[in-house]
Amino acid sequence: MRIGSHILKNKLIVAPMAGVTDRPFRQLCKSLGAGMAVSEMVSSNSLLWGSEKTRRRANHEGEVDPISVQIAGADPAMMAEAARYNVGQGAQIIDINMGCPAKKICNVMAGSALLQDQPLVGRILDAVVGAVNVPVTLKIRTGWDKQHKNALAVARIAESAGVQALAIHGRTRACAYTGHAEYDTIAAVKAAVNIPVVANGDITTPEKAKHVLEFTGADAIMIGRAAQGRPWIFREINYYLATGTHLQLPEVAEIHHVLIKHLHDLYQFYGEYSGVRIARKHISWYTKGLVGSAGFRHAMNQLQSTDQQLSAVNEFFSELAGYGRRLTYVEAEELVA
Ligand SMILES: Cc1cc2nc3c(=O)[nH]c(=O)nc-3n(C[C@H](O)[C@H](O)[C@H](O)COP(=O)(O)O)c2cc1C
Repeated sequence: MRIGSHILKNKLIVAPMAGVTDRPFRQLCKSLGAGMAVSEMVSSNSLLWGSEKTRRRANHEGEVDPISVQIAGADPAMMAEAARYNVGQGAQIIDINMGCPAKKICNVMAGSALLQDQPLVGRILDAVVGAVNVPVTLKIRTGWDKQHKNALAVARIAESAGVQALAIHGRTRACAYTGHAEYDTIAAVKAAVNIPVVANGDITTPEKAKHVLEFTGADAIMIGRAAQGRPWIFREINYYLATGTHLQLPEVAEIHHVLIKHLHDLYQFYGEYSGVRIARKHISWYTKGLVGSAGFRHAMNQLQSTDQQLSAVNEFFSELAGYGRRLTYVEAEELVA
């Protein structure tokens, strides 16, 4: 998989998720097998660039290449400026968000709402591609709603604007996260354009990853929710794609170690107050489905300091080790939105 001059080490990309794919999470996924990770979106509104949140989102210190930063907005000139700003902050790839259905984004006619206005899509892409000398990528949904699936038209606009890779989430904007992602539209786009296509949506297992790659012919796949609390999914999928067999589930001791390191990275990145709060959802995802985790999560969510949180996690994993060396989930895997 190639994006401009960047050759990815494999076909697995971490999907951008606001509130999740911060620098610690991206680094963790890359260390566990992801070939690339797209940042949380950064607003194109320059008034926000001084805010702590945006400054943190634009912080890529120590991050493994290539650094892909997603920008969101609807004004071509502002988007061009945002692209320049983020390249100045270290972005090596600029990704444009036309896939997010969030109300906050769509009400200002950005994210997936833009798919309704193809001429504007073209103006934004032309402006951003013309503004920076790094590759520009685009993330879309299959269309506005089931009656208006215009991914193919948007893909052609993107290709002629010089966009260097296109990620498609196999749902329409109107579908939000309901129903199942479909891959026919992604396959049709892949067959029609010459730029790399990345398939996204509901990829939760190694088998599904293989199926989506084969069915769509996509150059890579992008994984979001299934990596929450299970960042080792990338190594499992790589292994399955290479060998056709499954890696064993990780050992409890290894996951304990991964989680503790993740927590320390979060505390360092956000500071104690925010770090403890942001860590709660990650701890919940890591422990979901493990024996005794419901009671543990409830108690853990009340804790206020890093020391208390670390002790609670250590205690939980010591008890878990008593049930066996490897992780076993009590309920079937399910997505956590
Ligand atoms: C919590 C959350 C935040 C998200 N934030 C973004 C975002 O900032 N930009 C974007 O393009 N997509 C965003 N998405 C959509 C994902 O990138 C992805 O397209 C979607 O979750 C489908 O992939 P999945 O089934 O592997 O999760 C977000 C999804 C979730 C669950």
